Amino acid sequence: MANGSDLMEKLVSLCKRRGFIFQSSEIYGGTGSVWDYGPLGVELKRNVKDAWWRSMVHERDDVEGIDAAILMHPRVWEASGHVDGFTDPLVECRNCHRRFRADNPDIRWTNQCPVCGTKEAFGEPRMFNLMFKTFMGPVESQAAVVYLRPETAQGIFVNFQNVLTSTRQRIPFGIAQIGKAFRNEITPGNFTFRTREFEQMEMQFFVEPGTDDEWFEYWKTSRMEWVKSLGIRPEKLRFHEHAPEDLAHYAKKAYDIEYEFPFGWNEIEGIHNRTDFDLGRHQEYSGKKLEYVDPIDRDKRYIPYVVETSIGADRVTLAVLADAYREEEVEGEVRVVLGLHPRLAPIKVAVLPLVKKDGLPEIAEQIQRELRRSAIPSFYDDSGSIGKRYRRQDEAGTPFAVTVDGQTLEDGTVTIRDRDTLRQERIDQSRVVEYVRERIR
Ligand code: GAP
Repeated sequence: MANGSDLMEKLVSLCKRRGFIFQSSEIYGGTGSVWDYGPLGVELKRNVKDAWWRSMVHERDDVEGIDAAILMHPRVWEASGHVDGFTDPLVECRNCHRRFRADNPDIRWTNQCPVCGTKEAFGEPRMFNLMFKTFMGPVESQAAVVYLRPETAQGIFVNFQNVLTSTRQRIPFGIAQIGKAFRNEITPGNFTFRTREFEQMEMQFFVEPGTDDEWFEYWKTSRMEWVKSLGIRPEKLRFHEHAPEDLAHYAKKAYDIEYEFPFGWNEIEGIHNRTDFDLGRHQEYSGKKLEYVDPIDRDKRYIPYVVETSIGADRVTLAVLADAYREEEVEGEVRVVLGLHPRLAPIKVAVLPLVKKDGLPEIAEQIQRELRRSAIPSFYDDSGSIGKRYRRQDEAGTPFAVTVDGQTLEDGTVTIRDRDTLRQERIDQSRVVEYVRERIR
């Protein structure tokens, strides 16, 4: 059985082999810490994002969705504190010139380069801003500098008044968004865990000052429930509270939801009490009023407090994959299974004619057409032994496999195999769609 770095190696290899995740620009030797999602990976990540959007926006009437642009006015990042404060301390080895985060305990306490072994390798750290810069328009001057957003949250803050006036929302309410963010991380790594381009799923909940602690507790509990609803084992999840000295520049209180990855416990989501910091700063920097006026008591005006929930779509997808990976011995052979929650699985059902003759492929094709009509992702496979075909689907995380065999010709029934229990049931072929649909919700 795999564990630790061995498990990560196996997972990375399965992700490549089966088309979940590829290294970006691999034919050129790869780009540092940027990854591409393949045919199965894009479906899996999309299912994770859809589950988040459904629970955050569609199933609530107090949260609105938006999709803000990646490029924003450069003053946004001055107001948010990112130009001055979104930095990591960086040191460079005087011998091999590799760069490291100076706050890494191994670097801080040993002053020895972990790559070339040089002692007394590092001088004073310098602060390194993690925002990617580019230029807006044809002139590459300081005045044309814009940033790739390092968090999606600011697109929400600057649209607070727009959403408020264009909807019927009243405080308390939230704004949710899924989108790309970019950070020039000094030490990215652990596959898709820490990358330089990633997607965030963020929600800013605007509340009356004084009610923020209560809302913080509400969202903290509710977010943990959501992460569990993805099928991740509860014993692999825990909260971690930020110590006052570790709080981000905007936060009054912060909890992480951590998952026990093969490389240790690490953050997958942050729940932050951002107070009125962001709206207050945008009001100051833009000169536009960002106060909320209570519609009943119009003398009651305040800058709302914000409780934020922020989860990385890539990072939680990695947690889902790592949690789902298992190796089992079945009849003397090792089978690799991705035990993905049926709701997240890229392919919901495989359709397998036992042999390529006697009219079995035609029946299987008919079943697949019906699945397509019901928008249930399926995969038709008639090559290789049935055992091999099952194994291929196990690795892809497909929860069900329908086999059309000789008996189908006699009584119209097919077998339906459950990936996890390996149990096979016979059901009428007309019930396949209904059977699968009931189990993938
Ligand atoms: N708006 C608040 C914010 O961005 P954060 O803790 O810096 O807070 C939130 O990031 C989440 O975004 C993290 O919990 C993680 O899931 C994801 N994330 C942050 N940096 C990442 C990176 N370099 N690669 C992948 N995901 C990242």
